[in-house]
Amino acid sequence: MEKDIQEILISEEEIQKRVSEVGAQITRDFKDKDPVFIGVLKGCFIFMADLMRYVDVKCSMDFMAVSSYKGTTSTGAVSIDKDLSAPIEGRHVILVEDILDSGVTLNYLKNYLMVRKPASITIATLMDKPSRRKADIYADYSCFEVPDAFVVGYGLDYNQRYRNLPYIGVLKSEIYT
Ligand code: IMP
Ligand code: MG
Repeated sequence: MEKDIQEILISEEEIQKRVSEVGAQITRDFKDKDPVFIGVLKGCFIFMADLMRYVDVKCSMDFMAVSSYKGTTSTGAVSIDKDLSAPIEGRHVILVEDILDSGVTLNYLKNYLMVRKPASITIATLMDKPSRRKADIYADYSCFEVPDAFVVGYGLDYNQRYRNLPYIGVLKSEIYT
């Protein structure tokens, strides 16, 4: 195990099992709807890559990059670093996030995309920390509910590190204090 990790919260096996279940659910719910998956970079990249392979419907994908997070505390400010490469008017959008924490980022993004008149916006998140929610937003699909601890791995970072860990772990507190 990586030396900066205190504990593995969700193992590789648990992740794959749960992501496959959510992929199957999306397959049932979006049959014939030709959804567009919009990944929120960078944290989504591993989750989205796995999720898409468990989704068996005609679909497309796009990405946005936003920054809203410095270190372990959200700044509350959201900026769009990369916008979509195609219009979404009339499309069924599935926003793919790594973790829904305060909800400020996704709430901002959802409103930002709503203006373009998609047919619907659905939220799929790898993890949900409901105890920290500030914005009025919830996940339609959530793979794991997690406690209020800072987690890394499987796409999630601390100062751009640890994204490559194949599991989700809790960082040792001395790393970020
Ligand atoms: P929110 O706007 O507070 O919901 O923050 C969402 C973003 O903060 C996520 O997309 C992550 O990039 C980041 N984030 C929130 N909690 C964690 C965590 O425990 N580990 C790593 N990144 C996190
Ligand atoms: Mg993120």
